[in-house]
Amino acid sequence: MKRIETFDEFYSSWYSDRWPVLKSALLGPVLSLPFQKELKKPYFLNLASYLAVQALGEIGNREVLDLCAAPGGKTLVLSSTLGPEGSIVANERSSARRNRLKRVLEEHLPQEKLSRIRVTGYDASRWGLYEQNRYDLILLDVPCSSERHLLEKPYYLKKWSTNRTRQLAQQAYAMTLSALMALKEGGNLLYCTCALSPLENDGVIEKVLKKKGKDVKLLSIEIKDSRVVTEPTRFGLQILPDRSQGAGPLYISLLTK
Ligand SMILES: C[S@@+](CC[C@H](N)C(=O)[O-])C[C@H]1O[C@@H](n2cnc3c(N)ncnc32)[C@H](O)[C@@H]1O
Repeated sequence: MKRIETFDEFYSSWYSDRWPVLKSALLGPVLSLPFQKELKKPYFLNLASYLAVQALGEIGNREVLDLCAAPGGKTLVLSSTLGPEGSIVANERSSARRNRLKRVLEEHLPQEKLSRIRVTGYDASRWGLYEQNRYDLILLDVPCSSERHLLEKPYYLKKWSTNRTRQLAQQAYAMTLSALMALKEGGNLLYCTCALSPLENDGVIEKVLKKKGKDVKLLSIEIKDSRVVTEPTRFGLQILPDRSQGAGPLYISLLTK
């Protein structure tokens, strides 16, 4: 009978000798930032989350879709470069989290910005069936293993299995294909996770490129911030807390259609 792989065995197999150091950094303090550009009051978010959104560039007068938006930290960063003719659709399927998203947006954004953000509640993996070739920029911050939170909550850590990360990777793959359908030709899609599991990171992008390689290309990402180390992966980059003063974990990959 096949022995069940433990959490530590799974991550040691990917991160080798680095795993114990990385694991202790995950349990340590987060490098967070009081983000306040164009906001009524600061919003605290992981520095890596702020940097991820920078990879999409200035929003200006473009149409943006933020497919998995709650609680809304990255939507606030997106809105800070939104021009007078631009708009954002901030989507979140869970109604409780969608209420939180609305509250965060209302408490932080001036009315003029708020009026150009529409909050919706659809399933991200089906969005592309209903709306195609529409958005200039899409942020897809998928639900993921979020190992930092798992380690903080023994109840959830006990429930961890390799199957769980495989299922999340499968769901993220479906969401990415859906997002690509909704993306305009020439538009950019930023895929983003706070997972360490490579199945949910490069593994998803590898499958997407295999399936859609004719229509989709990888773009290089430039992030320059002396507080973090950006570590290139096969299809994107990672910021990990053991080398970035507690920022991350974050994985991003930038695709264009
Ligand atoms: C990683 S979190 C997003 C964090 C957010 N972008 C931020 O920066 O504050 C992923 C979100 O996706 C939502 N979600 C899960 N499944 C979804 C689905 N099928 N469609 C849309 N949203 C979904 C979760 O409820 C969760 O709020």
